[in-house]
Amino acid sequence: MTMRIRPLTTHIGAEVEGLDLREPLSPAQAQEIHTAMDQYAVLVFHGEPLTNEQHLAFTTALGALETAKTNTMRALAGDMRLPAGFNDVSNLDRDNQPMGPNERRRLFAIGNRLWHSDSSFKVVPAKYSLLRAVRIPSKGGNTEFAHMGAAYEALDDETKAIIEPLVCEHSQMFSRSSIGFTEFTPQEREAFRPVRQRLVRTLPRTGRKSVYLSSHIGTIVGWPLPEARLLLRDLTEHATQREFVYSHKWRVGDLVMWDNRQTMHRGRAFPADEPRDVRRTTIAGEAPTVEQAVAA
Ligand SMILES: [Fe+2]
Repeated sequence: MTMRIRPLTTHIGAEVEGLDLREPLSPAQAQEIHTAMDQYAVLVFHGEPLTNEQHLAFTTALGALETAKTNTMRALAGDMRLPAGFNDVSNLDRDNQPMGPNERRRLFAIGNRLWHSDSSFKVVPAKYSLLRAVRIPSKGGNTEFAHMGAAYEALDDETKAIIEPLVCEHSQMFSRSSIGFTEFTPQEREAFRPVRQRLVRTLPRTGRKSVYLSSHIGTIVGWPLPEARLLLRDLTEHATQREFVYSHKWRVGDLVMWDNRQTMHRGRAFPADEPRDVRRTTIAGEAPTVEQAVAA
């Protein structure tokens, strides 16, 4: 079968047909996928449900895994439902039951409903994320993606010049505290220490620039905080206008892959008492976007 790629919207997303993800990926197919990722930033694969092993094999055929390590709250708590290599993006506890509405882990996890780029809080942030739907709720729970390259290109020249040299500080504590989740253990504070990222980054293979936004950003280095937050808010409003967005309505068995270097995404709300079992693998980025400050 030949792989076919069908664009979904003007600026972002394509559906891939004619590829069975349960089969090993050839180097030529992997190259085709990388090229399509550079162009569309989000690829949707419908098909037969995969096993965890098949999901991992497809991921590692495209790049090295990012290790979840100790900087997720569940990993810190030793509360793992899925095998190594997976990020648990579900609303389920270790017994596969939906977490209670007031559970701390759930209230932390729903921070994923803010626009963000995965692992932007790591020194070397993620390249691709691959999310697969095992169980979905009866309504809601879409994942939305916004194209940060298209958003950058639509900025006026003055704004482009202002943001070009800027460096931001990212931490999961910033995203969570913006929705009122402010209680962190000393261990979490250590694991979630802010890292620096460029606000404008360039996609290596195409040279296309994008605005590297994420709700994990707390401030812009060297800027007064209120001014920094207002600029970030303006940029985020601009970048998440509907014309730059694709909203994915999940079907069981879907796998959606996105490029964190040139997109933001967010989960949407769904009934809290229904299971939503979605599992993520992540391909590591290749380099930091900027040098880190020397720790004081
Ligand atoms: Fe995410």
